[in-house]
Amino acid sequence: MGLSEVSPEEIARARKIVPIVTVQNRYNFDDRKWENTLKYCEQEGLGFMPWAPVGGMRGLKSDALEATAKAKNATVYQVAIAWLLQRSPVMLPIPGTSSVKHLEENVAASKVKLTADEMKALGG
Ligand SMILES: NC(=O)c1ccc[n+]([C@@H]2O[C@H](COP(=O)([O-])OP(=O)(O)OC[C@H]3O[C@@H](n4cnc5c(N)ncnc54)[C@H](OP(=O)(O)O)[C@@H]3O)[C@@H](O)[C@H]2O)c1
Repeated sequence: MGLSEVSPEEIARARKIVPIVTVQNRYNFDDRKWENTLKYCEQEGLGFMPWAPVGGMRGLKSDALEATAKAKNATVYQVAIAWLLQRSPVMLPIPGTSSVKHLEENVAASKVKLTADEMKALGG
């Protein structure tokens, strides 16, 4: 089963009842509130599928993202997705889009590789 919007304690409680394989909490470049749940998923080998991975309806606005995007000849959304993918080996982002152009752009983000310095500039 998968769980959504849960703390490590809640996942641990649920796992006593049923096997849990994935967790979906809100998480993106601008919203790292569930960092502790991400770390728990990493330690326990559970998939973490962030919802609103590119900021949802609000989108993403950040000088750091824009600067990195410019330096990489990529878009802000691509850098935000690349950042998520490099943030954790259990991260499984599924950005929502109604546009083929954005879908292609988002898939191509998997080819954007951020250096250790770039990750540091983006807050790790
Ligand atoms: N578990 C939960 O509680 C929960 C809650 C909410 C959502 N979800 C799920 O999480 C998934 C994603 O969340 P979400 O759709 O709310 O948020 P999201 O993927 O962060 O953002 C979607 C928005 O970003 C825009 N967008 C995507 N790619 C873009 C790009 N390359 N350039 C510019 N704009 C771009 C889309 O506009 P365009 O259409 O114009 O591309 C859309 O407005 C969905 O599958 C959803 O069902 C789960």
